[in-house]
Amino acid sequence: MKNAKIVLGVSASIAAYKAVELVRLLVKEGVEVRVVMSANAGQFVAPLTFEALSGHPVYHTQFDSQNSAEMEHIRIAENADLLVVAPATASMLGKMAHGLADDALSSLHLAFKGPVLIAPAMNEGMWGHAAVKENIAVLKSRGVEFVDPESGELACGVIGPGRLADIPVILNKIKSYFNQRDDLNGIRFLITAGPTHEAIDPVRYLSNPSSGKMGYAVAEQVKARGGEVVLISGPTYLKPPPGVDFKPCKSADEMNGLVQEYLENCDVLVMSAAVGDFAAENLEKEKIKKQGDEGLVLKLVATKDILLEVAKRNSGKLVVGFAAESQNLVESALEKLKIKNLDLIVANDISAPGIGFQSDSNQVTIIDREENMENLPLKPKREIADLLLDRILSRLKRP
Ligand code: CTP
Repeated sequence: MKNAKIVLGVSASIAAYKAVELVRLLVKEGVEVRVVMSANAGQFVAPLTFEALSGHPVYHTQFDSQNSAEMEHIRIAENADLLVVAPATASMLGKMAHGLADDALSSLHLAFKGPVLIAPAMNEGMWGHAAVKENIAVLKSRGVEFVDPESGELACGVIGPGRLADIPVILNKIKSYFNQRDDLNGIRFLITAGPTHEAIDPVRYLSNPSSGKMGYAVAEQVKARGGEVVLISGPTYLKPPPGVDFKPCKSADEMNGLVQEYLENCDVLVMSAAVGDFAAENLEKEKIKKQGDEGLVLKLVATKDILLEVAKRNSGKLVVGFAAESQNLVESALEKLKIKNLDLIVANDISAPGIGFQSDSNQVTIIDREENMENLPLKPKREIADLLLDRILSRLKRP
């Protein structure tokens, strides 16, 4: 989250004092926090408190003829990555749902085009009221996200739902916007990606249309979640994600050499490369010349199956394979899972239009060693990568 720009909207709730702690923690994470207050929030916490903690002026009056920076809060809205409203009162939810702009915070909300996260806080009767529920439904339908209040003793003495969610819970939710979970901290990933090139002569090779996007997305998400990555990649047009230890290669044989070399120092192997199954038996030193109308007979030999080689080593690593299938998706994937002794396999149907090799999205089925199957809907590869990493993490945590 370092250098992220967050606007924290504080509305008039007794829980406003908790927002002070939220500002402190965000600033500690390197976030630039701008606080905007609703018309009455200053009754609970003085703007000066937020000003001192955030290091920036606090906007709490919509029209201030003394202030040369009038409408400054609208300018802030243009530059922010995220608007967090915590605490959000029932009244503020109503204003946001209905597009009112009668104070600094509600005006900023209307001017803001980015993602919005709301942590409500109110009396339990208000929280259960149909009007509040409808306002929340309207906001959710616009893509606004919520950190729901908790149950507990409320300021009015009643016990029930309505208490502002704990600040660490709100902070975690904010972090998830910036993908700053560090749940893979200390876990070492070896990831393969892309196609391989099996040379026939100095200018020709056998290959496949793999773009490498899936493997690169996994590498990127591992880094975002605090893990370490050695990325072994066949030839692609992609830029290696920042912070990965990048090992380029061309042929299946080279890829196999690198995997065997780096396997020992990893905890998880994610084999997403589309490794060529066949290579020319003889690599011609010179360019093969065309002989009139005559065709060419090439003798191909099988390449080493990298995952089978890994299985033979019985390395004790968590191993994930991929299966690109054009028919019998589940049966073929299950067969590969068993033969290659995998913990997880990610299967996708390459015959389906709009998904797979070159696409930014994919539709996959994740199958584990116990043969539990999870059919995921069509999703961006980055999201699939994150879901796969969640599954890997939960297997690593098993006793
Ligand atoms: N794989 C491998 N070494 C190879 C070929 C594939 O390690 N020489 C890995 C892939 O990276 C993938 C898994 O094995 O994780 C399955 O690859 P896939 O191409 O779907 O299957 P194959 O085993 O090659 O079988 P087939 O092509 O006949 O479906």
